[in-house]
Amino acid sequence: MKNPDASWDSYFSWFHDSDVWKNMHYHGIRTLKLPSDMWNYQEIIFERGITHVVETGTRHGGSALFFANTLAARQSPGFVVTVDVDPNSNHVRQHEKIKFLIGDSGSREMAKTIFSHLPEARGPLFMILDSDHSRTHVYRELEALVPFLRAGDYLIVEVSCVNGHPVRPAFGPGPWEAVHEFIELNPGMLIPDKQRERKFGATAAPDGYYVKA
Ligand SMILES: C[S@@+](CC[C@H](N)C(=O)[O-])C[C@H]1O[C@@H](n2cnc3c(N)ncnc32)[C@H](O)[C@@H]1O
Repeated sequence: MKNPDASWDSYFSWFHDSDVWKNMHYHGIRTLKLPSDMWNYQEIIFERGITHVVETGTRHGGSALFFANTLAARQSPGFVVTVDVDPNSNHVRQHEKIKFLIGDSGSREMAKTIFSHLPEARGPLFMILDSDHSRTHVYRELEALVPFLRAGDYLIVEVSCVNGHPVRPAFGPGPWEAVHEFIELNPGMLIPDKQRERKFGATAAPDGYYVKA
């Protein structure tokens, strides 16, 4: 029987290596995502009654706009907090459901600032790490941000596909290595959601879907 993992990997490798991901737009704004992951994210937001989204790595802002529209579609009173170190990112500019912060998403000060924007009485949160994809930076983000999560909050560690999982084998340690190390050192804190991760087969975030215990 054909190994389904191999088919997903070969589809994802085609998607990545042919640069399709560099020419994707959501409502006219560029985004760097695999469409099936975005579909998964909006299903998670509806199914879990997510009220707020925290995103590290805004870039053009297409993904922040996608999350803001998804929250609006489920009539959530909440909003998206998105962070980028580059002040020239975020081509969406003004949006009533997007708070754009500038700074280093791996710093403890930024983690405090992000969560100071969220109301104490918030519902479940969806947090997605999609900034600097080096192992060191993602590990810093996990250490700084995960302690602010509550039981039932959702975490995505994006672009764990690099360093040979299955693309860009020469990338060096990245998100995949960071999250595995974090889980090893903090057992029981993050519960993998493999069924959701693999719902549509291919993902840019292998071993990157978690629920906070
Ligand atoms: C992969 S892009 C984000 C893509 C976007 N989320 C999307 O799906 O369209 C990564 C972004 O992370 C930002 N970045 C890099 N290092 C960072 C850091 N230390 N803190 C915050 N943002 C950072 C970059 O400036 C870049 O805009």
